[in-house]
Amino acid sequence: MDRLITNLTEEQRQKVWKSIKDKTVAVIGYGNQGRSQALNMHDNGLNVIIGNVKDKYAEQAEKDGFKVYSIDEAAKKGDILFILIPDEIQPKVFEQDISKNIKEGSTVIFASGYNYYHGLVNVPEKANVLMIAPRMIGFGIRDLFLKGQGFPVLIAVGKDYTKDAEDQLLALTDAIGVFKPNGVAIRSSFREETLVDLLTEHTWAGAILYIFRAYYEVATELGASPEAVILELYASGELEEIARSMKEQGLFKQLKNHSRTSQYGQLTRGPKFADERIKEIIKNEAMDILNGAFAKEWTLEMQSGFIHFNKLYELATEHPMEKEEEKLYRILGRKK
Ligand code: NAI
Repeated sequence: MDRLITNLTEEQRQKVWKSIKDKTVAVIGYGNQGRSQALNMHDNGLNVIIGNVKDKYAEQAEKDGFKVYSIDEAAKKGDILFILIPDEIQPKVFEQDISKNIKEGSTVIFASGYNYYHGLVNVPEKANVLMIAPRMIGFGIRDLFLKGQGFPVLIAVGKDYTKDAEDQLLALTDAIGVFKPNGVAIRSSFREETLVDLLTEHTWAGAILYIFRAYYEVATELGASPEAVILELYASGELEEIARSMKEQGLFKQLKNHSRTSQYGQLTRGPKFADERIKEIIKNEAMDILNGAFAKEWTLEMQSGFIHFNKLYELATEHPMEKEEEKLYRILGRKK
């Protein structure tokens, strides 16, 4: 089995689409992912209905021409259920409105591995479980589709009850628009998706914020102005350009766009931030993700009403750098 799939042959497409074409697809949640995936599947000829609570997202779905039902009604009507509500509310909504309404032989699709991998959602034995986890924001999915372009996803079969789950997986991946030029489906697992997704958040994504802050403290103590530092770090947009070059040219190959002095500095000083101690931290975070320690901590935090989480955000935004950033962004017209 190929790990990377960039397209289906016409023969493959005809075969796999047989597994879904007469089914009703219920998209549960019409937010970032829900709207884009529902519109793409509708444009590809599937019968799509929406399950949503009564809110502005439901109104949007109606405006877009979809039939909107309550979540439990949609779960009853749908043969294929895309679960596209936020991860943190899925366990409760699943238990209250979805699980008991799932028909025998239905298919449940998650857009992230977290809840199923950690056993936080209870999918009945009589259903298939699939994962189609986009590596793309919801808006991008629709935008690229309209431009005739695909996008990357991680895919997996969690449970094959009907013995055609693999066909359904490929057909639904096609239906949301992945197999157009530049699109790719990577064979994965709920475990892998959970690991790589959270490991980003628990390592470099969080670290970069606090490294920037440490840099700010050192540089301003040495007499640099807050404006010069904030522009240097992220406000100029250079960071965005570097990220784009990484995507287009490669992680290290993009170094060639920088001056030789810069390249030398990065290659000699960069490794100090990835020594054995740092690798140990990354490994420990990976273990906490896989063994459920983080999931347990986060579930408790949610149950407590986000007290610690809100406090952390409050503390982070009280730092002097935040006030300087606010002043600078007003001058630059980014804030009123
Ligand atoms: P979202 O935040 O855009 O979800 C909004 C939807 O959730 C709306 O339809 C709203 O009515 C519904 N909703 C909110 N609170 C609710 C409640 N208490 N009860 C019932 N429905 C409620 O969600 P998003 O970001 O599209 O995420 C959906 C799934 O896609 C998640 O599993 C996420 O991990 C995954 N994903 C999201 C990406 C993104 O671009 N945001 C990227 C890749 C995967």
